[in-house]
Amino acid sequence: MARYAVFASGNGGNFEALVEGLRGRHDCVVLVHDRRTAFAAERSRRLGVPTRYVRYAEKPRELAESEIEDELLRLRVDAIALAGFMRLLSPAFVALHAGRILNVHPSLLPAWPGSHSIARAFQAGERRFGVTVHLVDEGMDTGPILSQEAFVTDGSASLEEIEKRVHDIEHRIYPREASLFLDRLDASRRKA
Ligand code: GAR
Repeated sequence: MARYAVFASGNGGNFEALVEGLRGRHDCVVLVHDRRTAFAAERSRRLGVPTRYVRYAEKPRELAESEIEDELLRLRVDAIALAGFMRLLSPAFVALHAGRILNVHPSLLPAWPGSHSIARAFQAGERRFGVTVHLVDEGMDTGPILSQEAFVTDGSASLEEIEKRVHDIEHRIYPREASLFLDRLDASRRKA
């Protein structure tokens, strides 16, 4: 059983899908959130996952990350799953956890990285939507892709309908990919 942390900034739908989907296989040992009012923190209380709020304002990013790092070390975290964490991790932090940070993104990367991806794609008249699960490198929503799932609309769907469909896919494929990833991590540890 691997020990993973989830980093989130907002609603926490993917956080909850991960905890529910991986329950009994891998252990979510902390939710790290950077917004005090993140609904994800409320979900974590309901799910029984400890939370750690890390304030980023008025200090260098590296200082906030060193607080996170202390917590990850204390909890002996094996891997990190970003779930709507709307901050770019520093190259040093990424290097420290190289190959052990996952992310889910609501587009078919490399198309539409960044925030508000679904709305921006919709407004641009895009017809192909989807979800990407990938390993995190130093870039914004970049790094080796583990899985993608796409769908095409006929142009009649509303933004809300498309968003719902994208989020449904996220909640299905992120736990699946995270579980496979953590299984592999566990297996490689057993061999070492
Ligand atoms: C999700 O759609 C996730 O893919 C996206 O934020 C949303 C968070 O929702 N992440 C990004 O855009 C990362 N660049 P949630 O808080 O309900 O999981």
